[in-house]
Amino acid sequence: MTDLGTPSTASPTPPPALAKTLKEGGTIEPVREILWGTAAGARKYETAEELPADMRRLIVRLMVVQADTEFASIQQHRSWLDHAPTLEDRWIEARIVADEARHGLQACRILRDFGEEGQKYIDELLLRREGQHKLDAFNMTFDRWSDVGAFTCLIDRVGVYQLRAFQECSYGPLARAMPLMLSEEQLHLNFGLNVLKRMVREGPRYSGDAAEAQAAVNKWYPRALDMFGHSNSDTSRRAIELGLKRWTNEEAREMYIRELSPLLHNFGLELPDPGFDRRIL
Ligand SMILES: [Fe+2]
Ligand SMILES: [Fe+2]
Repeated sequence: MTDLGTPSTASPTPPPALAKTLKEGGTIEPVREILWGTAAGARKYETAEELPADMRRLIVRLMVVQADTEFASIQQHRSWLDHAPTLEDRWIEARIVADEARHGLQACRILRDFGEEGQKYIDELLLRREGQHKLDAFNMTFDRWSDVGAFTCLIDRVGVYQLRAFQECSYGPLARAMPLMLSEEQLHLNFGLNVLKRMVREGPRYSGDAAEAQAAVNKWYPRALDMFGHSNSDTSRRAIELGLKRWTNEEAREMYIRELSPLLHNFGLELPDPGFDRRIL
């Protein structure tokens, strides 16, 4: 039993999980070592110059896709800035657009570290218009308000899995960009889920109805599952060996389905079969 009458003079011992990351005074100590993959235990890469050639190519490719999705989603959202059904929805739309612009900038800052090659990609990204983006989900338009709800609930959630896969990865500048991006994305996911829920529960008093919300889920879900990439991708296995990503495409896709299904089921929407309308398997 604890003796409550005798105050302890010993400084409290932090729980083991926090002991490594929290310093005296509460500052966060960055993790310096590579945490998984073939170089686990070595120091993380901190500059573009020291990266092995294949890792360099992979990071550039991943950041070009990342930035492309951020800039594309601004084009998709923008027509709803002044057409969303409520004042609060318009304000959140404006905030999402600002967040996505910042995420694009952050991915481009990482590209800039790759010198001329990185800058060439940035210049191309800025010229890309609707319909010219890498991933199908970002070439589709938001025709109805339910598209905005389903996109932010389903597609942004895939984005969160991609970002979580980079958390504490072996390239320091990329690892350090993750916490703020993830906290902003959480707002987008909550917003999307809430839009769909309100459509089901309030119907036309808010906007649309349950059938419209379900149709939007059916439209975006196959493109969301495609975004994880091929199940047997050598690139995704290599990204794990390099300490860049934590999960294979298939592992991330399965976690996503397990998380999303009960969230929607809870208020009466259902996910189609994972094989429905797929283009990338
Ligand atoms: Fe984003
Ligand atoms: Fe987002």
